[in-house]
Amino acid sequence: MSIYDTIIANGTVVTPTLTAQMDLAIKDGKIAAIGKDLDSAENVIDATDCYVLPGGIDSHVHLAQPSGDGIVMADDFASGTLAALHGGNTMILSFCFQEKGGSLRQAVNDYHARANDSCYCDVSFHLVVTDPTAQVLGQELPSLVAAGYSSVKIFMTYEGLRLYDDEILSTLDAARSLNATVMVHCENEDAIRFLVEKHQAANKLAPKYHATTRPVAAEREATHRALALAEIVDVPIVIVHVSNEQAIEEISRARARGRNVVGETCPQYLFLTAEDLDGMDWEGAKFICSPPPRDKQAQEACWQALQDGTFDLFSSDHCPFRYDDPAGKLNPKGRTNFKWVPNGIPGVETRLPLLFSEGVMKGRISLEQFVGLTSTNHAKTYGLYPRKGVLQLGSDADIAIWDPRIETVITQQMLHHGADYTPFEGFKVQGWPTTMLLGGNTVIRERRQIEPKCLGNYIARNVG
Ligand code: URP
Ligand code: ZN
Ligand code: ZN
Repeated sequence: MSIYDTIIANGTVVTPTLTAQMDLAIKDGKIAAIGKDLDSAENVIDATDCYVLPGGIDSHVHLAQPSGDGIVMADDFASGTLAALHGGNTMILSFCFQEKGGSLRQAVNDYHARANDSCYCDVSFHLVVTDPTAQVLGQELPSLVAAGYSSVKIFMTYEGLRLYDDEILSTLDAARSLNATVMVHCENEDAIRFLVEKHQAANKLAPKYHATTRPVAAEREATHRALALAEIVDVPIVIVHVSNEQAIEEISRARARGRNVVGETCPQYLFLTAEDLDGMDWEGAKFICSPPPRDKQAQEACWQALQDGTFDLFSSDHCPFRYDDPAGKLNPKGRTNFKWVPNGIPGVETRLPLLFSEGVMKGRISLEQFVGLTSTNHAKTYGLYPRKGVLQLGSDADIAIWDPRIETVITQQMLHHGADYTPFEGFKVQGWPTTMLLGGNTVIRERRQIEPKCLGNYIARNVG
């Protein structure tokens, strides 16, 4: 009788203490052994010449979000998690938005109903507080954090979502008392609104003006303010989707003062620039996201911050809308004014191949840094470690086997998301996750889905 259910043999396995050619054995969905010449299993996967890594965790993914005004998000939990899995992820963290005046608990129930039984990888939820009433902060938040929703995102921009400084302070204070993790979207809403009005008065309405109405200074100022408010309350924070060197400097300076800050960046800030928003016709709308992609210098600064450890997290901020669709980017109002183009781009399936190719294969970051930036640090930040994000005994057998020999040209046609385009069309990448295991089950083999069932689970989390 076999000792193990599955052995992944002869791959280069990345563990917290050693990267070496070894076998990895799985029993009952957990990692049961890592070492040389393990024996024996029902199912043996040959990983010779491949890398055996923890499945990616993408801690910044928007799915099935009501987006107002006839706009429909392009991915539900089924298509979004399937795309995630094909792109090397075994878990995503998505957002439950509180409606203004509504209950946070109700938001959680609604998102559970949307995700229920339709996830191809594991899923957990961040809370989004848009209306921090005494009831929400004093009653709902404590019970939700205790129930495993241990992180909260707040916005400093977007009408209807943004919090004012006094609201930010009270939300940070509540999070501090609960040890909940707070993620902050840092852009100055008043400055943006001022610039949007000026652009409209000058009839500057094309997609490229999305970028000029959301300048670096608006992000830098809000980043500085968020860090200062967190310092006043004395609470750690996560600065999400950082796009440029000035915001990076704010994070570094806060750390130099002893602050506990986690920094996140995304593929759009390494691989796209504001020039992409200046396409023919209205094509630039495909690249509208916030903060916007910047310039080559900002890209270089983001690479540098990934390399030197200023950034802990590399996430997709997958926020998919179809382009050529009245419910998407080219909705009737969106065709006439960048202001009405829904913000966000798809990227959950391309995040890891892009970083693996341009980071690991081009020698900018090590394999171990790749694992940290795309999996381990997400697990540690959001209360999943060591169950997730690491290959070690007892952890969930959520595994990505990467073949570094495979060359792929990214095209919309090959992807599994619900959007009708990819902002990374035509990018050539070296290396792809060819085999994926979720809780010990082989769900993708040789890049093909072999498990039709939705085996993803909802995962309640500890505090980070
Ligand atoms: O444009 C973006 N990033 N949309 C997603 C929402 C957010 O701010 O993360
Ligand atoms: Zn955001
Ligand atoms: Zn986002």
